[in-house]
This record gives sequence, structure tokens and C-alpha cells, in this order.
Amino acid sequence: MASIPGIQPGGAATKFVEDPILDIQDLCTYFFVERGIVKAVDGVNLSLGRKSTLGIVGESGCGKSVTSMSVMRLVKNPPGRIVGGKMLLQRRNGKQVDLAQLDPRGPQMREIRGGEIAMIFQEPMTSLNPLHTVGDQIAETVMLHQKVNKTAALERAQEMLERVRISAPEQRLHEYPHQLSGGMRQRVMIAMALSCNPSILIADEPTTALDVTVQAQILDLMRELQAEFGSSIMLITHNLGVVSQMADQIAVMYMGKVVEYADKRAIFKHPLHPYTVGLLKSVPVLGRKANKLMPIEGMVPSPTEEIRGCAFASRCPHVMPQCREQEPELREVEPGHLAACWLH
Ligand SMILES: Nc1ncnc2c1ncn2[C@@H]1O[C@H](COP(=O)(O)OP(=O)(O)OP(=O)(O)O)[C@@H](O)[C@H]1O
Ligand SMILES: [Mg+2]
Repeated sequence: MASIPGIQPGGAATKFVEDPILDIQDLCTYFFVERGIVKAVDGVNLSLGRKSTLGIVGESGCGKSVTSMSVMRLVKNPPGRIVGGKMLLQRRNGKQVDLAQLDPRGPQMREIRGGEIAMIFQEPMTSLNPLHTVGDQIAETVMLHQKVNKTAALERAQEMLERVRISAPEQRLHEYPHQLSGGMRQRVMIAMALSCNPSILIADEPTTALDVTVQAQILDLMRELQAEFGSSIMLITHNLGVVSQMADQIAVMYMGKVVEYADKRAIFKHPLHPYTVGLLKSVPVLGRKANKLMPIEGMVPSPTEEIRGCAFASRCPHVMPQCREQEPELREVEPGHLAACWLH
């Protein structure tokens, strides 16, 4: 078999961008529950470039959050477990580690989580502690990862609040999360996430809970800070409008797999996978609050169902006999444009 750069013999794509900071190969994260095995992430392949933004899109339940929780090694075991694959991180010290092999509670992972990979969530209240002041929480993160005393950490906290443009930061430091508005809390989360200058920021639906104006402000802020701090961003969202604004590359997920991956422009101009085409047709306009993608015709199969062939076959307008027989692998169809579909 002729070797295409970035494609291993056998088909599995590895590096989609040159010199990625994070390279996920065949990641499988399953949940072992009473009704069976939920293959939430079932062979995800994607790469995150340095200083770039990767948008991850796909309908509810396709495994976006489980992918990001796997990277952070925050999947709760039991019932969840990473059962296969690699997540190769280029560390700040120049070494490469496979996050999948690390002890989730061990020293390396504790150093990486928050220090090199930080995460912000849709609902800040789930990760902010209501019992501690904003300043103490940011300072705590700083002290966990840097050898500084409390005074210096609080100074850093105040500086970060300024950076995310919270007014009167020296007062806000002493306030509790419930005293802040939703948009303000999201700024605090961003401040906390960036306080240790992580090389990767994972943002899981960071603006979904916010109203339109605040949403736009937060996105602007993220872009600005990315330019300044040089972090890579993994941006998970239902909102293709947000992705079109923010992303450099896009990965489209369906039922625990990446079915298409390319530069943003290629995805929007020339989508290859019928699922992506369907998603683009259902695009919610940026500025509308409805952030759930409108469903493409047909039902997503149950996550515990054993599927033969392509998981999208039952909903695909172009289905061919072969699609029900054999699963298509993610492969490079055009330079830098990967799709898992028998049409190509
Ligand atoms: N703790 C768990 N136990 C069992 N199944 C789980 C668990 N967490 C997630 N799942 C399942 O894993 C699959 C993927 O879930 P995930 O949260 O990653 O979806 P998502 O793409 O983030 O969806 P959304 O867009 O709604 O946030 C779903 O079928 C979900 O029900
Ligand atoms: Mg999710």
C-alpha cells in the first residue's frame, strides 16, 4: 500500500497537522454499565496543532465530552475506562507522554492537569467552589502548579482577573461565585484556566449557557488570550456559527468516532461526509440561543447496539450495500482532508 504522509499502512490516520501538541490515536473510552457496554468513544483519531484551535462538533451524545474528559483523565472509573488508544502530549519539558498510560491521580497527571492542559466547562458553577472566594480559588490553582507563596498567587489572581476584563478586580478577588453574573463566572473560569499558562485549553460548550452578547464577548476574549498566551484550544460546541468564527481545524464526530477532519474552510466549502453535509444544513445561526444542532433525519442508534458497517448508514441518503457490510476508516481523501466514508 502506498504510504500517504500521516497515514499509517493499514489506514488509520495519525498526524493530521504537522508537529501536533496533542495527538489522539484510536482512543476508546467505554462505560461498563448494567445494560451493556457504552462505547462512548470508540476509535477517535485527531490532532491538535500548536497555537491553533480545533473545533469538535457533532450531535448530542457523540462522545465530545467523554473525549475531553479522557484527555484530562477525569473519566470516572467505574463505570468508565480508557480501554485503548494513545493520547500523545508534547510536554513543556520537551518530552512526550502518553496520557492514556498515566495514573489519573499520579504526580505527572496532577502536574499536567491544570498546569499544561486546562479545561473550562459550560456551567462554571460545577467547577467553581461556592464556599471559597474567587481570589482564593485562582490562587490555589496557581500555588498547585507554581512555586509561589499565597501573596504572589493572589497577585497573579488579580492580574488574571484584569486580563479577562473583570472590573474592580481587587474587590472581585474577595467575592464568592454566586455574587457574579454568568458571564462574569465564565471569565473567572477562563482566568483560572489560563493562570498557569497552559499549552492546551479545552473548552466544552463554554458559551452555551450565556446570552448572545456575552457569548460574543467571551469568544473574543478567548481569541485574544490565545494570541497572547499562545495556547492551543480544543473547542467543543454544538454551534457551527461559533466554530466558523473560532476554529482553524474541525473534527466532526459521530457515534464515538471522528468521521471527518480538515481545515475549517474545507469543511464548510466542501464537506465530504454525508453526516457533515447534514450538520451544515442544520446550522444554527450565531446569535441564536438554540445551540442544539437540528437532528438529521433518522435516529442515532443506541450506544450499546453492535453496529456492522458504517454507523451512519441507517440515516445516510447515499447509503450503498458496502456501507452496511464494512466500516469505512478515516483516511485522507484530499490533501489534509480526511473522511471515513465509502463514497470517497
Ligand atoms: N458516566 C457514564 N455512564 C454511562 N454512559 C455515559 C457516561 N457518561 C457519558 N456516557 C455516554 O457516553 C456517550 C457520549 O457522551 P458525551 O457526554 O461525550 O456526549 P457529547 O457529545 O458531549 O454530548 P452533548 O453534546 O450532549 O454534550 C453518551 O451515549 C452518553 O450517554
Ligand atoms: Mg458534552
